[in-house]
Amino acid sequence: MISDLENIWSRSSRSLKRSVIRELLKLTARPEVISFAGGLPSPDTFPKEDLKQVMMEMMDQESNFVLQYGTTEGDMILRKRLVEKQYRTIEGMDITVDNLVIVTASQQALDLIGKIFIDPGDKIIVGAPSYLGGLSAFRTYGADMVGVELDDEGMDPVKLEQTLAEMKAQGTRPKFMYIIPDFQNPTGITMPEERRIKILEIAKKYDVLILEDSPYREIRFEGQHQKTFFSLDNTGHVITIGTFSKILCPGLRIGWVIADKRIIDKIVMAKQAADLCTSPLTQRIAARFLEKEKMNELLSSTVAMYKEKRDIMIEAFEKHMPEGVSWVKPQGGLFLFLTLPEHMDSETLFMKAIEKNVAYVIGSAFYAKEGGLNKMRINFSYASKEDIREGVRRLAEVIRENM
Ligand SMILES: Cc1ncc(COP(=O)(O)O)c(C=O)c1O
Repeated sequence: MISDLENIWSRSSRSLKRSVIRELLKLTARPEVISFAGGLPSPDTFPKEDLKQVMMEMMDQESNFVLQYGTTEGDMILRKRLVEKQYRTIEGMDITVDNLVIVTASQQALDLIGKIFIDPGDKIIVGAPSYLGGLSAFRTYGADMVGVELDDEGMDPVKLEQTLAEMKAQGTRPKFMYIIPDFQNPTGITMPEERRIKILEIAKKYDVLILEDSPYREIRFEGQHQKTFFSLDNTGHVITIGTFSKILCPGLRIGWVIADKRIIDKIVMAKQAADLCTSPLTQRIAARFLEKEKMNELLSSTVAMYKEKRDIMIEAFEKHMPEGVSWVKPQGGLFLFLTLPEHMDSETLFMKAIEKNVAYVIGSAFYAKEGGLNKMRINFSYASKEDIREGVRRLAEVIRENM
């Protein structure tokens, strides 16, 4: 057995730490725990029968193709479908297949974007708070992540501009700003279009890329669809990431990146070295599923189910949560962010919640540096309706007892 592994790890792998969050989440896996912790879609939304039929037809008719290696750019049928039917028609985006690469779900997009843009010490702007997996991906490449606070319309443009102006004065420029505009993970906040336009103006003024990550975009319960950053921009300042994980199923591991062709080409080169190609099998499953024109039906039932669960959760909050605990009602997505009184610490509370068999993700996990100690992210898509009611009752009890 090799004796000195610690001396041969790469510098970047030395900085990899077992995530505290992953360790905490392991505790939530016991069957008696009602977990509001993961970001899992409900398996009741998975279109199992349709997928089974698609897979059988595929194995009958195109097995040699789907079982073979594919191109790094991705399945042409899927790319064309996404470009034509989704982005050109619905989102009004002026793109061609050359602007889109398929990736192994959006987590790989975050990793590859980190790889092609970030050198150790490079600054990037992230929302404070932001999706934990995005922060981990950028941290791997040594990013110096600068958090910009959110208000209830998302990233605060005044604070963003202050931050960029300070950086400029010091002769630095961030590589990109990471923004989750629709039903943000973890806060559930959606950025109105006027705010997107303001942020885009700032991005153009300081000539900084916007990385728009929007896995929850289609899961809207009420209110108006807001234009994507990409469709509001005509200057090549936006990279958009999408995924089937929350609207079809995460097990396919299919996502995509849309950007300026020069950025797509670089991602393709980085992806080639990472995994040659995303599974042709699961890409074609997604493509053939879309051809069955059942996506809208699936989305409507998913949205209806999650809306009902959100309402049950809010009703349970109103019934059980003690004075001093607050939340914003999300218009879509999978999450709610709970704010406890200032002096409370959701990390200490976590073990007490686990003792009562209920779990959440601690707020500080979503901050690049410090913050969020008195916050917790609560998922409402996965637990059953009964478990939502009971889990909130238990959680409220833990909070009350520790106030
Ligand atoms: C904002 C955001 N981006 C990316 C992902 C990764 O999703 P996937 O890799 O399944 O597409 C998630 C998952 O929860 C997310 O919330």
